[in-house]
Amino acid sequence: MSIFNYNGKKTLLIMSHFFALIMVGLFQTAQSKELVFKAGNDSLKHWLMPKKIPHAENNIPTQARIELGKKLFFDPRLSKDNNMSCATCHNPMFGWSDGLATAKGFKSKQLNRASPTIVNTVFQTLQMWDGRKKDLADQALGPMMSPDEMNIGIDGAVHFLQGNQHYIKLFNQAYPNEPVNEKTLAKAIASFESTIISDNSPFDRWVRGDKKAMTAQQINGFKLFVDPNKGNCEVCHSAPNFTDNGFNNIGLASHGNENPDLGRYAIKPIKILRGAFKTPTLREVVHTAPYFHDGSAKTLEEVIAHYVTGGVVKQDLSPNMKPLSLTPQEQADLVAFLQALSTPAEEFTLPILPKSEF
Ligand code: HEC
Ligand code: HEC
Repeated sequence: MSIFNYNGKKTLLIMSHFFALIMVGLFQTAQSKELVFKAGNDSLKHWLMPKKIPHAENNIPTQARIELGKKLFFDPRLSKDNNMSCATCHNPMFGWSDGLATAKGFKSKQLNRASPTIVNTVFQTLQMWDGRKKDLADQALGPMMSPDEMNIGIDGAVHFLQGNQHYIKLFNQAYPNEPVNEKTLAKAIASFESTIISDNSPFDRWVRGDKKAMTAQQINGFKLFVDPNKGNCEVCHSAPNFTDNGFNNIGLASHGNENPDLGRYAIKPIKILRGAFKTPTLREVVHTAPYFHDGSAKTLEEVIAHYVTGGVVKQDLSPNMKPLSLTPQEQADLVAFLQALSTPAEEFTLPILPKSEF
């Protein structure tokens, strides 16, 4: 845990929480010093995802809600041109991203930022590259409202749903005492997204005790990943979801552009947040190339090469970024470890959408 990472919530902490945080911080530091790199060792267990999946009090994810949310997530009729759904940019075939450097929006407009994966987003304390949304339900309506994305507007989306008998029935089953409106629409989508979880990668199986789950090279990559004098990755990509839920400027070349995307700074104008973007999870990262918010790295090898430089643009750089001394073999080991964070692709069943009514 680093004092340089801001997640925007620290100001809310009262003193007792603050002390608890310090204790957790000390505990974690002590833990990482004593890691034993053996399958199933107790010192590694903090890397396992929690079994309990968080949800809002007013939105317990029942089967009916999850199935409704899945249909909504894949339904292009929630866009103005009837040709774009959430899944256009968060596609299961591309690790719930889109395989593009930066997203393509309404009428194929090139957008400025890459589509992040939605894998494990339910565990994040803030959403979006700049953390401007607090949770999945808070995020879900944004793309429908944005003129650059689905562009149907809330009224348009709700009008479509309220005019479709099949959807009305599904909403009534999922949310019996609530109307079909923007709130239940957002909650259903969030319920579905909360089921897109990665917690059984070769790395997870190795942590749980399966000796054969990772190769010797991948185990070495993990050692480099957590070693502050080698990869120094864990300082930001921390356990268990490989993110500190914070924002960092990692010195991408695009930060040297004339009017660079200032990321978190636009939401919270604190100097250290200039050009700082959310630390993304690394789970399922093999499937989500290209990488970084600007899509500037095509491969994981290019990502590692970036970190070896310690950051191209030094202005506003995170104090946790420094040039790394890694041999080509060690760089390859890090890539091999990142590969162990992805589960072999599984078949995914698409939903059957409610019929249109004309
Ligand atoms: C045109 C492509 C596009 C469409 C359509 C789209 N998204 Fe996104 N999504 C993005 C981009 C790009 C970002 C990051 C934007 C930013 O940070 O400013 C994003 C961010 C997110 C995030 C935050 C993830 C994180 O790790 O912070 C979630 C969750 C999400 N989208 C869900 C949805 C849902 C639900 C829908 C449908 C209602 C949807 N998206 C439609 C491109 C898209
Ligand atoms: C100072 C904090 C920090 C350190 C240290 C760090 N990262 Fe990152 N990492 C980030 C942030 C922030 C991003 C997103 C930056 C952006 O797009 O502007 C990122 C992005 C990535 C991505 C791209 C993921 C995606 O979905 O686009 C990968 C892969 C990655 N880091 C791996 C690593 C590895 C491996 C190391 C160690 C060699 C490392 N990181 C060290 C903060 C850090």
